[in-house]
Amino acid sequence: MDRFVINGGVALKGEVAISGSKNAALPLIAATLLTAERCVIHGVPNLSDTRYMAAILQELGAEAKFEDGTVTVEAKRIKTVADYDVVRKMRASFCVFGPLLGRHCKAKVSVPGGCVIGPRPIDMHIKGFRALGAEVDIQKGLVIANAKELVGNTIFLGGRFGSTVTGTANVMMAAVLAKGTTVIECAACEPEVVDVAEFLNKMGAQIHGAGSPTLTIHGVEQLHGAEHTVIADRIEAATFMTAAAITNGDVRLKGARAEHLGAVIDKFRESGIRVERSGPDMVVKGDGVRKPADVVTMPYPGFPTDVQAQFMTLMAVTPGISVITEKIYPERFMHVAELGRLGADISLEGASAIVKGVARLSGAPIMASDLRASAALVLAGLVAQGKTKVNRVYHIDRGYEKIDDKLRALGARIERQKQ
Ligand code: EPZ
Repeated sequence: MDRFVINGGVALKGEVAISGSKNAALPLIAATLLTAERCVIHGVPNLSDTRYMAAILQELGAEAKFEDGTVTVEAKRIKTVADYDVVRKMRASFCVFGPLLGRHCKAKVSVPGGCVIGPRPIDMHIKGFRALGAEVDIQKGLVIANAKELVGNTIFLGGRFGSTVTGTANVMMAAVLAKGTTVIECAACEPEVVDVAEFLNKMGAQIHGAGSPTLTIHGVEQLHGAEHTVIADRIEAATFMTAAAITNGDVRLKGARAEHLGAVIDKFRESGIRVERSGPDMVVKGDGVRKPADVVTMPYPGFPTDVQAQFMTLMAVTPGISVITEKIYPERFMHVAELGRLGADISLEGASAIVKGVARLSGAPIMASDLRASAALVLAGLVAQGKTKVNRVYHIDRGYEKIDDKLRALGARIERQKQ
């Protein structure tokens, strides 16, 4: 298991290229199962999660190749069963369910396991599949669905915590080949869902309203092969925005899509960070007077839960008191205790973190627990005095392409050690 050793205190400067979005790439790769024809997806970040998704497609019988950021899939004949051994490592594997059901009117996929960021049910996915006419049952740890045919319907996909991102993508992928028209209400508006809808439309689907809470899908007989480039990763961009801000640096984020980062940019500006659009890039400068900011995470276009931990690290070293409330995953605070080991002053009150900015953090060994918490710890290491050792960085390798190389190119003193 690798670890990062970081010597903090360097203001990051220079340019960093933002990779393709992991959370768009995963359902995009799954969507290729909807046709027997060849699909090509460019700009796929080389991550353990994306490699895993390509491997799942191979397990299902598709030819899937992942080379130089391009995934090529030909799913001529596929199995409709993905059991625990095939999908257990990654929750997003469940995204194959919609395409299998859409194409073959049946699917058997293991129920995704527990997750360190809190409960992550799939009831809304199942509700959507049932509304399309499938009989869905859970037996021996498998979600099993069968239908004579899928028939369009009106489906409300909102839950206690709002819309569902992969649930919307999954039901949409099943509905594209259903008979008649499907309307998904309270659909997730995240750019990753829009990207999947755009790819499906290139494949011949007829989806309208992507990016709004109402999706209208006119079912078609079949889809064909298509080529697509994944959108830039807004969460990776926000993480590098934080790296620039927290180190009082000056960083150009190449290819970052500012239009996907409205809520994040707003909070950065409120906290005194300069954020500018510059053609297709963004430039972030952390040289101003920093101020605390209160944040509540929400579905898009609100402040993303996937940036909550990183923003908390920034607030941990910003004078004043900030309140950060988590509304999507109320238990997603594993980073709090580890940040405390570096000297941060953060207390939890239910789903809110009260962050009292401290003058400095001081390096120590810490443990990464999940993807975004790990990113938050690396950010803390960039600003902490002395040496920070972040253990178990395999979490970060699931979602950040070469984060250590990218940070080093900006001047950070970060090394990967094999253990
Ligand atoms: C996606 O997960 C992302 N993953 C997550 O990114 C992200 O944190 C999350 O959306 C929220 O933005 C991928 O895209 C692969 P949800 P997803 O269904 O789709 C509840 C990262 O760090 N819910 O939108 O699984 C759920 O418990 C990750 O990259 C139900 O109640 O999340 C949560 O409270 C982690 N029933 C809320 O809805 C359901 O059937 C939103 O979850 C589904 C979800």
